[in-house]
Amino acid sequence: MLVLGIESSCDETGVALYSTQEGLLADALFSQVELHEVYGGVVPELASRDHLRRLTPLVRQVMKQAGKQLTDLEAVAYTAGPGLIGALLTGASLARSLAFALEIPALGVHHMEGHLLAPLLEERPPEFPFVALLVSGGHTQLIQVEGIGEYQLLGESLDDAAGEAFDKTAKLLDLGYPGGPRLAKLAEQGHSGRFKFPRPMTNRPGLDFSFSGLKTHTLTCVRELQSQGELSEQDLADVAWAFQDAVVDTLVIKCKRALKQTGYQRLVIAGGVSANTELRQRLEKTLQGMGGEVFYPALQYCTDNGAMIALAGALRLAAGQKDAEQPPALRPRWPLMELPSIQPLTTSGAATCD
Ligand code: KG4
Ligand code: ZN
Repeated sequence: MLVLGIESSCDETGVALYSTQEGLLADALFSQVELHEVYGGVVPELASRDHLRRLTPLVRQVMKQAGKQLTDLEAVAYTAGPGLIGALLTGASLARSLAFALEIPALGVHHMEGHLLAPLLEERPPEFPFVALLVSGGHTQLIQVEGIGEYQLLGESLDDAAGEAFDKTAKLLDLGYPGGPRLAKLAEQGHSGRFKFPRPMTNRPGLDFSFSGLKTHTLTCVRELQSQGELSEQDLADVAWAFQDAVVDTLVIKCKRALKQTGYQRLVIAGGVSANTELRQRLEKTLQGMGGEVFYPALQYCTDNGAMIALAGALRLAAGQKDAEQPPALRPRWPLMELPSIQPLTTSGAATCD
């Protein structure tokens, strides 16, 4: 089955073409970073307008890249939530119109399921069951995954998501937008051991997270340094290092706990923050020590992209799921656990699932 995937939930326009027989055929992305940079964050109305500008050319681009015609398409998958409503509407309108005109099914995909399944795009995909750590700008969740749509929430952030904490802390260090990658880059120059930030909610049982206090802790640390004089580049890097170390350490501790609790050996990390090198390395090392394995998407599929939506959509469409004639409303908020399960088609990649 040949599926066009469209992602437009936030500040990236992603379009991809996925074949259940041949895998990912083409993939294109337009990032709105420059557009929002001057405002220090995503401006929803500007995001929607820019998606409108980029979507059609990106669809043409992936079709050309794969040497396919629109008439070759067998289904269209699009992000139906969670996300910014105006931004979601742009991708959904194009996807549904295309599907209607071509008389093929359309399917609204859950953005976080896209992230969760993105490691299945890799040559060495994880087998079910596994524990998934979803870490993005809006979510920090630990999920027990037994199959597609078989999700049990083990724990989540009670306040800021991990990505949000990175972004807000980057802002108070004057690093601008997008904060996460910039803070991570600065932390590379930082010295370990100069500051030790708390590991929130690790000294009590449970798998929930809380990251908003870390931001305040960073602010207090910066103010203290400022009271001694102007901050040097090294001061900033040391603070960034301590913040990243605290977030990563907290995530690692909770992942270990989730694996112990479930008895699983496999951990998947996905979502924008899974692009963080320190997090990847620390989890690799930890899982090695436990005799387990960690799986994550290639860097370009950690942050928002069309390929993960094409893949997640293709797996569900190939199992017979599709939008009703009157498609459901888009969902700016949409708990992942509400998704229906589908029969597992394959656990070793999606090549044989039609
Ligand atoms: O998954 P994503 O692209 O969008 C959402 O669904 O939210 O995640 C974006 C988030 C942002 O908060 C961004 O700062 C964070 O992921 N991020 C990072 C890194 N790359 C992206 N955080 C830490 N280190 C990184 N290298
Ligand atoms: Zn995302």
